Amino acid sequence: MKILVIGNGGREHALAWKLRQSPHADRIFCAPGNAGTSQIAENVPIRASDLPGLVGFAKQNRVDLTVVGPDDPLAAGIIDLFAAEKLRAFGPDKSAARIESSKIFAKELMRARKIPTAEARTFSNSKEALRYCEQVKFPVVIKADGLALGKGVIIARDSATAKATIDEMMNQHRFGDAGRRIVIEEFLHGTECSMHALLDGKHYVLLESARDHKRAWDGDQGPNTGGMGSFSPANNWNSKLQSLFDSEIMEPLLHGLLQECVTFRGLLYPGLIITRDGPRVLEFNCRFGDPETQALLPRMKSDLLPLLEATIDGTIERCAIEWDARTAVTVVLASAGYPGKYETEKSISGLDEAAKLDDVQIFHAGTKRDGDEVKTAGGRVLAVTALGLTLEAARARAYQAVSRIDFENRHYRRDIALNAVAANVTELL
Ligand SMILES: Nc1ncnc2c1ncn2[C@@H]1O[C@H](COP(=O)(O)OP(=O)(O)O)[C@@H](O)[C@H]1O
Ligand SMILES: [Mg+2]
Repeated sequence: MKILVIGNGGREHALAWKLRQSPHADRIFCAPGNAGTSQIAENVPIRASDLPGLVGFAKQNRVDLTVVGPDDPLAAGIIDLFAAEKLRAFGPDKSAARIESSKIFAKELMRARKIPTAEARTFSNSKEALRYCEQVKFPVVIKADGLALGKGVIIARDSATAKATIDEMMNQHRFGDAGRRIVIEEFLHGTECSMHALLDGKHYVLLESARDHKRAWDGDQGPNTGGMGSFSPANNWNSKLQSLFDSEIMEPLLHGLLQECVTFRGLLYPGLIITRDGPRVLEFNCRFGDPETQALLPRMKSDLLPLLEATIDGTIERCAIEWDARTAVTVVLASAGYPGKYETEKSISGLDEAAKLDDVQIFHAGTKRDGDEVKTAGGRVLAVTALGLTLEAARARAYQAVSRIDFENRHYRRDIALNAVAANVTELL
C-alpha cells in the first residue's frame, strides 16, 4: 500500500514510524514532514494547508490511504475533498470535525445529551460577556470558539483579567474569527487525562490512557503550549472511570451525533478533567493528540494500519488492540522562546547517541535537514520517548536520552511524569 501522512510534527513522525512497521505498507509519503520522517518515508514539499495540492498528489501517485495529522485541514474539509475524488483518507469530515473546531457546537451537543462538562455560557456580543463578568464567581475559563493553536483558552482569576481577555478576543480580534464568539465556563478542579478512541461512525475502541503537560515551565507554571511532554498509561485512570466514561460520555455522544446526522469516522479524543464527581469533558479533539501519540504508539503492539482501515470501513467493533504493559514517558525539547517567538536554525547534536539507548525512540517535530546536519525549524523540536517497567524507569531513561541531545538554548521541562508519582496533585491554581 502507498500511504500519505499529512503534517510535520512529532505526532506525524510517530504515525509514519508506526505505519512503517506494518507489513502492508510499501511506500510512505509525508507532506511536508521533517528531518525525522525523511529517514523512514519520502518527504513531499506540500504544506498541510494546501488542500488542492494534497488531493492532486494523492491522485497522481495513486495513494491508497491518507492519514491526516493536524486539526486545521480536517476543519477545512480535507476529508470531503478526498472523498469527492474517491480517495481513501483517515479522519472526520468537515461537519464531524466541528466537534473540535467549534467549542460552542461541542458545548451545545454536550448540553443536549447531558454529557458531564463545565457549566458554560456562550456569547457573541462583548457587552453581554462583560456584563456577565460582574456577577460570575471566579476563577472562570474563557475560550475562543474556534481553533487557536492551543492558545485560545484563558483562566481568569479576577474580573480585570476576564474583561481584558474578552476585549482582546472579541473586540481586538486577537484570534481572528476564532474569537468572534466565546464560551465562559466554570473552572473545574482535578487532574487531566486524554482518552483516545477510534470511532467508525457507530462503534469505537479505546486506546490506552495518557496524560500531557501543557504548561511551558516546571511545576505547571507559565503559558499553555501545544504540550511539553506526556506519559501513558495515565496514573489517574481506572476501570471505574472507564465505565463512567463509556456510559456518561461516549454513548450519549454517539446518540447526539446520530441525531445531528453527523457521522464521525476517525480519532476522537475527549480531553477530560477527573473531578471528585467523576470525569468531565473539557473539549473534544478530532485527531491524535500531540504529544500523547508519541507516548501511545510505542506501546501499541498491534498493527496500526488495519485499525485505521477498520475505522474508515465501519468494522472497528471486530478489532482489539494489544498493548505493551510498560510505561512510556515522552519529553519534548523546544526552542528558546517557545510558545512565544522562538529561535530556529540551531544545529542539533547527539541524536544518534541518544537513539542508541535501549527502549528509546526519538520523534522529530520542528527539524530540517541541512546537508549532513539536522537543524531546528520550529517551536517544539523533538519528542523523546522511553519505555520502562515502571514510571520511574521510563522517566530516567527518557531524561538520559535527553541529556545526550543538544542544541543552543534548548528548553525542556524537568518534571514530566514527576507529579504522577505524588497522588492527587492539583495541576492548576
Ligand atoms: N473548565 C475548565 N476548568 C479548568 N481548566 C480548564 C477548563 N477548561 C480548560 N481548562 C484548561 O485549559 C486547557 C485548554 O483547554 P481546552 O478546552 O482543552 O482547549 P484547547 O486544547 O483547544 O486549547 C485544558 O487542558 C485545561 O488545562
Ligand atoms: Mg485541549
